[in-house]
Amino acid sequence: MQYKITLIPGDGIGPEVTNAAVKVIEAAGVNVEWDIVNAGAGVIEEAGTPLPEAVLESIRNNKIALKGPLTTPVGSGFRSVNVALRKEFDLYANVRPTKTFAGVENKFENIDLIIVRENTEDLYAGVEHMVGKDAAESIKIITREGSTRVVRYAFELARKQGRKKVTAVHKANIMKCSDGLFLECCRQVATEYPDIEFDDSIVDAMCMRLVQYPENYDVMVLPNLYGDIVSDLCAGLVGGMGMAPGANIGKDVAVFEPVHGSAPDIAGQNISNPLSTILSGVMMLRHLDEHEKADNIQTAVEAVLAEGKDVTPDLKGTASTDEMAEAIINKLK
Ligand code: NAI
Repeated sequence: MQYKITLIPGDGIGPEVTNAAVKVIEAAGVNVEWDIVNAGAGVIEEAGTPLPEAVLESIRNNKIALKGPLTTPVGSGFRSVNVALRKEFDLYANVRPTKTFAGVENKFENIDLIIVRENTEDLYAGVEHMVGKDAAESIKIITREGSTRVVRYAFELARKQGRKKVTAVHKANIMKCSDGLFLECCRQVATEYPDIEFDDSIVDAMCMRLVQYPENYDVMVLPNLYGDIVSDLCAGLVGGMGMAPGANIGKDVAVFEPVHGSAPDIAGQNISNPLSTILSGVMMLRHLDEHEKADNIQTAVEAVLAEGKDVTPDLKGTASTDEMAEAIINKLK
């Protein structure tokens, strides 16, 4: 079987980490024709836009993409291409697993949780404006439809993976309308899944509990903004941004990408940790039902981490991005 997959190398460390992921996926025996298209800050000068039509066209045709991070200017400038892609293809569920790996130094041993972040609404809908010169307004949009479908996705994922609990995270004590509606949808959907335990937590308390007892959590479902923040917190619990894969799932299209950004502070040095992107590739293979090849890569990653020798500086090693990818390839069966 040959797959045609859109590949967006991205900005900053994007080309390094996607190149590593492509090498590992191909070495695992997956036959892919990569449709390489460029987006982000790096293409503006040439294309006049950070999101050229060719990128949308490629994703529309292939229905599946692996992408590197894309730079978004802070405060002013163009809007996030990531957010635009999620809206364009209605990629409503952002799935971000957090797992501890033997060999990676951290305070916890048994973290294995999945964040399911609503990906199209909330303050990320981009409805904001200045009110005169000295005030600004951002509108938080939460709908019953948008909330219900992502919560249902979270419960289905829990059931499919044999997980025990879904925790809804919100701030419904203060935002009684918007987060109140989200929580109401969570409670409603939970009644359809009596086999899965359900509870909820206010987001601030959740952050504290996550840094104290992260092993108590299983699947979490959150509105967009909290999901974004809490998933970076979770990445920090298991070794940092280099250890955090992600998937953006829609009805017809899926885009796989690391949680981290373009990391301009280390770009071009061949020292970025490629695992977030390689593990995003593993999620992509599972989405394609290529479980054997996904397992093979996962096991190879675990072996390299356990040895702790061929790992990048963020994991206290001295290997380059390419050397870490090579070490993983050498462990493939
Ligand atoms: P960042 O995630 O790029 O970097 C945060 C810190 O983590 C930096 O110290 C960086 O060196 C480190 N880091 C990130 N990935 C790493 C890796 N693979 N290996 C080792 N260390 C790694 O976040 P930052 O600096 O806030 O954002 C940079 C740019 O990326 C911004 O323009 C932002 O908008 C964009 N961004 C894009 C995302 C996407 O395309 N999905 C997601 C997050 C941010």
